[in-house]
Amino acid sequence: MNSALSGYTYDDPALAASGVTRGDLAALHASVLWSDADAAALRRAADILVPQTEAILDVWYGFVGANPHLVATFAGADGAPDAAYLADVRGRFGQWIADLCTRDHDARWLAYQDEIAVRHHTTKKNRTDGVDSTSAYVPLRHLIALIVPITVTIRDFLTNGESDPAAVDTMYHAWMKAVTLSVALWARPYSPTTW
Ligand code: HEM
Repeated sequence: MNSALSGYTYDDPALAASGVTRGDLAALHASVLWSDADAAALRRAADILVPQTEAILDVWYGFVGANPHLVATFAGADGAPDAAYLADVRGRFGQWIADLCTRDHDARWLAYQDEIAVRHHTTKKNRTDGVDSTSAYVPLRHLIALIVPITVTIRDFLTNGESDPAAVDTMYHAWMKAVTLSVALWARPYSPTTW
């Protein structure tokens, strides 16, 4: 894993433990139909997706850039997109693809999901990269809605490395479950009492 990546603290021993319990996680796993087969399918997906990371990020960043309401969250103090901010986050977004596919859902994984959550929320947005931004938070509604493009765009990248449609489906469904599970965890600071 890439500990030299700017702002990437997954393996930082100082990372605070998550308040999400093993029971909460087990219930969420059940809600998204998660099984050990999904973890295995994602590890296979990693072999296909990680080498295509830059191409995947080009698609996602193209989508964000084409939508003013999304790119507005990457604004600097003048309200225009901050290139350094976009670039720093892009590095960690690429690492996230590998992490989503390969990391065990253990206490450290839960702790870093909390960290990603607060980085989208008023609690900590802009602080990791030291940005003076006009955007104080990523709106929860868009955080949830982006599950769709982050999911549907991955299928073509899976088919680049796997010709059997059933095997692609297995990886695609595992990806969808993992992304949805992640965003469910990231919603926690937005609704601390009713999460
Ligand atoms: C499924 C939905 C989403 C996924 C998977 C996702 C993923 C990520 C990841 C992996 C990071 C970097 C985490 C780290 O620091 O290690 C990040 C940061 C960020 N994302 Fe998202 N994101 C999603 C939705 C959104 C939406 C909808 C927006 C904008 C409207 C957005 C804007 C940002 C911004 C501005 C940052 C940097 C936050 C900071 O200042 O630290 N994200 N996102």
